[in-house]
Amino acid sequence: MSTRRAAVIRAFGPASVLELVEEALSPPAAGEVQLRQTAIGFNFIDIYQRSGIYPLPLPTGLGFEAAGVVEAIGEGVADISMGDRVAYMNAGVGAYADRRNVPAERLVKLPDDVSDEAAATLLFKGMTAQYLLRKTHAVQPGDLLLVHSAAGGVGQILTRWATALGATVIGTTGSPHKRAAALAAGCAEVIDLKDPEWPAAFLKATNGRKARVVYDAVGKDTLIQSLDCAAPFGLVVSYGAASGKAPAIDPELLNKKGCLFFTRPSVFPHNADPATFKANAADLFDAIGRGHVKVDIGQRFALNYIVDAHLAAEQRVAEGAILIVP
Ligand SMILES: NC(=O)c1ccc[n+]([C@@H]2O[C@H](COP(=O)([O-])OP(=O)(O)OC[C@H]3O[C@@H](n4cnc5c(N)ncnc54)[C@H](OP(=O)(O)O)[C@@H]3O)[C@@H](O)[C@H]2O)c1
Repeated sequence: MSTRRAAVIRAFGPASVLELVEEALSPPAAGEVQLRQTAIGFNFIDIYQRSGIYPLPLPTGLGFEAAGVVEAIGEGVADISMGDRVAYMNAGVGAYADRRNVPAERLVKLPDDVSDEAAATLLFKGMTAQYLLRKTHAVQPGDLLLVHSAAGGVGQILTRWATALGATVIGTTGSPHKRAAALAAGCAEVIDLKDPEWPAAFLKATNGRKARVVYDAVGKDTLIQSLDCAAPFGLVVSYGAASGKAPAIDPELLNKKGCLFFTRPSVFPHNADPATFKANAADLFDAIGRGHVKVDIGQRFALNYIVDAHLAAEQRVAEGAILIVP
């Protein structure tokens, strides 16, 4: 039995509910491997879970993604070897730790050109962008897309990848200082969400053309106005709630706004089947190799400073992704 360091919560609440514990770690069970984690991804969903917006049974660990090295292998694991560099993004909560047992079927081996830090930063967010632009809507050359929070983690990846596929992306940001990051990710124009008339600013930027797809993970503050930015028969994708829970949508409103399609998808069912997960990851690694997806680490925090990582995300100042180093 070895020991490990992990961050846990015993109650929902502000960032200060996160605490570090030293605890025993049992050997990997059948079908599992034990990882020495080298890089841990931070995602906005971690805040929803810490604060209780998406409640979990308590006490609980947090965090969905990490990269690391295989240090022990349980019975019945055939396709993983000691020392393999691997990553995961859908193995249940508990990635905030320096060591962890993970079901082998939830792991993907890392290609040589994808570093541990890149994988821990890109896997969860990149797999989100992957289903949003391959499955929720198969992005085509010439599509006009509106991407909210285009300077954020998923936002930058989605923007850069969709642009590489030939779409034109108009982005939004919550403050003008993020404009340069959104432009660098490929946005043709960036709209400031602090402008209460931001949908009019969007239409001005496009000479009145509306979006084939609106990707909205801001939720409460933007969703109703997002409906005004979608073209007739267009698609509005509500995939997050950074500003608070999105309002309920009356189906008749979709009719009035142009026979719109509306969906609320999630990365987990898209990657629940292990073979599909590996195929989606291969698509993401290919996009990384082609330069269509780039790692952009805005801030690094040691696991001991996990509270500060959460505060930084909530203060909404960071551009790019936050990485946690065990
Ligand atoms: N459904 C899925 O499958 C799925 C998977 C992954 C992520 N997501 C969602 O995608 C979004 C982005 O995730 P991420 O991890 O990459 O985070 P992130 O974009 O790095 O951070 C969240 C962004 O939300 C924006 N925001 C708007 N209102 C906010 C508020 N009141 N407080 C804090 N931020 C606010 C901020 O951008 P501005 O300041 O520029 O507005 C901020 O950059 C999140 O909503 C997340 O839940 C969904």
